[in-house]
Amino acid sequence: MSTADEIKAKIDIVGLVGETTPLKQSGRNFKAPCPFHSERTPSFFVNPERQSWHCFGACGTGGDIFSFVMRRDGVPFGDALRSLAERAGVTLAAPGASRQRAQQAERLKALHRDAAMFFHNTLLKDDEAAAARAYLEERGLSAETIETFRLGFCPSRISALSRSLSNQGYTDADLDAVGLVRRGEDGSTYSMFRGRLMVPILDERSDYIGFGARALDGAPAKYINSPQSVIFVKRSALYGIHRARETIREGGLAVIVEGYMDVLTAHQHGYRNVVASMGTALTEGQVATLTRLANRFVLALDPDDAGDEATLRSLESSWGIFDFRGKTTGAASIAGREGKAAPELRVMDLPAGKDPDQLIREDPEAWEHLLATATSVVDYVFDAVVRRSDVATIQGKTAITRRLAPLIHNAPSVIEQNNRIQKLANLIDVRENIVKGEVEGVAAPGAGRRRGRARVGADSIFSEATGDPLEEYCLTSLLRYPELWPEAAALEPEHFLTTPHREIFQRLALGVPPEELKEHLDEAYHDDLDSLLSRGLDMVPHWEREQGVQECVKRLQRRRITLEQEAVQAQLEEGEVSLDELSSRAEQLKAELSRIDRQSQN
Ligand code: UTP
Ligand code: MN
Repeated sequence: MSTADEIKAKIDIVGLVGETTPLKQSGRNFKAPCPFHSERTPSFFVNPERQSWHCFGACGTGGDIFSFVMRRDGVPFGDALRSLAERAGVTLAAPGASRQRAQQAERLKALHRDAAMFFHNTLLKDDEAAAARAYLEERGLSAETIETFRLGFCPSRISALSRSLSNQGYTDADLDAVGLVRRGEDGSTYSMFRGRLMVPILDERSDYIGFGARALDGAPAKYINSPQSVIFVKRSALYGIHRARETIREGGLAVIVEGYMDVLTAHQHGYRNVVASMGTALTEGQVATLTRLANRFVLALDPDDAGDEATLRSLESSWGIFDFRGKTTGAASIAGREGKAAPELRVMDLPAGKDPDQLIREDPEAWEHLLATATSVVDYVFDAVVRRSDVATIQGKTAITRRLAPLIHNAPSVIEQNNRIQKLANLIDVRENIVKGEVEGVAAPGAGRRRGRARVGADSIFSEATGDPLEEYCLTSLLRYPELWPEAAALEPEHFLTTPHREIFQRLALGVPPEELKEHLDEAYHDDLDSLLSRGLDMVPHWEREQGVQECVKRLQRRRITLEQEAVQAQLEEGEVSLDELSSRAEQLKAELSRIDRQSQN
């Protein structure tokens, strides 16, 4: 999977586009007035199944999430890629060769594993670590927990580590890049982690990607974490996932806490479905990892912050992400989606002054009870928001409704939306249709953005989907066998829905020879180009290559027409445009389709 594919798999286009223009479901598509030209009748469609968009009006173009952001923000592909990567929590390779980067990532993971073992052994044996051992004991962490989580200690004299690492071929630059060991002006080595308890962070595949390092002397920075690197993206990592994964999958339930210590204690007590967001609001990347494993989630809020504005915001944001993942797209038959219930998010209210770590140590039964009785996020946030304003006044009621509007508007289903409207109407003692009107007003074009509260981002529910085999096969053939180019004469860039493919096709169509493509392409596409070039076509005998391309061209043409047909059909069903106008367009499309079919028969 190329990086662009990975990002596409993590971001749901319906959520993304929905932030710019209000999407309404229409058959298998969603539609809206086109955000790129002004119009009254919606001719802008989003197809969740293909993760594509298309404007059938004045723009007459479409594409994927990248081309959407390119147009929306008026930026080149590279910028769109970067902003969407950020949103998806995907680490972007520094520009350059991808194989080299993958090798570097492997090296750095091995380096972290080796370093973790060094710190672990230091913790167990070194004299300097005596206080650290006592500290862990005092906190009730068992030898077994220390072992399974490979807790460690970073000594002040780090030369043993740096010597052993350099013997294994790691360079100063490697060590510096991940913040482990630094070399002073005088050539001596030191670590910014010295004197700290080392908590190795592993990813889902049990690769070592970074460290959290806790101060033992009450230093103001309680934790220092490894810097961001090719392998460590703090915001999308989940502490404990390597140990919790199986239990979460088996029970269909994940409990999300804030801290390292909470995870360690929970696991030690046999609560193995616990992971930590590491102190931040849940991100789309974290949620993507979790919803692949389970569909019930409980958020254990830090009791001291519960109810404060920042917590409420982070809760609303997590909620928005979960809602969007649960959104039914109308394309119920998409693989893996059938029969899968929408994700459910609950909030666990801990007693004041007790984080999960303390609570579990003191009273495991209370933990189980609170878990079993966690409040639905809807109730929790509604109550918290209502408590903040004066429900007796008109201003108060309005403020509450406006704040909750995006969360109501983005409910995963109409039934759930009504549910939320009812609930709010009851809470603030206003008639339901008034609440409904207010919600719709906030969700109107531009309003969500202006108020800046419509946090509706989402990951794709199509995480398994990779690439677009049709486009890939076609482009690979054209790249490898330029003599086949005449077969593709009927293709236009618009036939390619994937931005990198479209850009590559466009250059080819301009006559750039395949071997010079890289010079003419943004570096961000080089990965995609490499992956197209490395696709195996050798199985296809040369006398069938021509036929293969012809078939692709035909299917790409058909696909473009079918997409437009679906959109026309949806508009007809809605009865929004004059029937004559649409019928004639439908006829036209039908004729075009049969022309393509006829052509390929000759
Ligand atoms: P907490 O302060 O709740 O830490 O921060 P904790 O894990 O419970 O640690 P103890 O019990 O005080 O030993 C929650 C999480 O936020 C991140 C860490 O991931 C921490 O586990 N954090 C906190 C930081 O990254 N840096 C900090 O300075 C503080
Ligand atoms: Mn704590």
